[in-house]
Amino acid sequence: MVELTESFESIFKTKLAKLLRTNRFGKSIYVFDELDSTQDYANALPITESVHGTIVIAKKQNVGKGRLGRSWISPEGGLWMSIVIRPDFSADNIIFTQFLGALAVADAIQQTTKIRSRLKWPNDVLINEKKVCGILVDVNLESKDKKIVMGLGLNANIESSLINNYLTADTTKATTLKEEYGNDIDLVNLTKSIVDRIEYYYNFLSSGKALEIVALWKQNSDMFGKRAIVYDGIEKIMGEVIDIDQDGSLLMKLGDDSIKKITYYRNVTFIES
Ligand code: BTN
Repeated sequence: MVELTESFESIFKTKLAKLLRTNRFGKSIYVFDELDSTQDYANALPITESVHGTIVIAKKQNVGKGRLGRSWISPEGGLWMSIVIRPDFSADNIIFTQFLGALAVADAIQQTTKIRSRLKWPNDVLINEKKVCGILVDVNLESKDKKIVMGLGLNANIESSLINNYLTADTTKATTLKEEYGNDIDLVNLTKSIVDRIEYYYNFLSSGKALEIVALWKQNSDMFGKRAIVYDGIEKIMGEVIDIDQDGSLLMKLGDDSIKKITYYRNVTFIES
């Protein structure tokens, strides 16, 4: 007799679809046992198969992509997800999609574990000063198929040593939800919370309330007043983090008291004062 066991893909998809309370996000869900990258998959989906709010999830990724051309270690146990956004807001607001992603993840972590995570510009979610989640935003507004793909890499039920052994000395150390919480987390529930909160914050952008997103992001960050180094190509900028500008840039006060505006492509490393 052939034994029929339901696959990871179909269990995850069915449970998630049942739990979601959203209007538009998660109405179309793709789940895979493995993919090279959910980001690549979502970017390549034809327009007819990627309505606004489409979600792509993989149990593991073989060639996960991080920001700045880095690779993203994505073993089984993490939450590796990309979401297609067909923006109904102006191009100036695109920068805020990574803020809304980070806010959504922070809320979902709080809801599922009671842990208060903190946000680090431009796209990181930290617990105890270590990175638990990173967000990658790909933008394609050139062609007829205008879309943003927001990728979330959340180290959920994995060992941080799997990641930290591969990091270079200048990168923020990684942590995982499992290690911070002390237990495995239900990935479907976690995904449901994140997607609900993404829709919640997305509606701020749609209704012209980007500055409220910035204000909320700032409330959830401990960066301000810290000394930091930012590498801008070959230039090394050292100063105090003082604010996030209305356009989403980071504002730093330099040694000569001038204010330097940093765009969103850079990496920030904190230094002891
Ligand atoms: C970062 O560098 O901090 C962003 C990492 C983003 C990783 C996620 S995992 C899901 C999606 N697929 C990818 O290949 N990358 C993003």
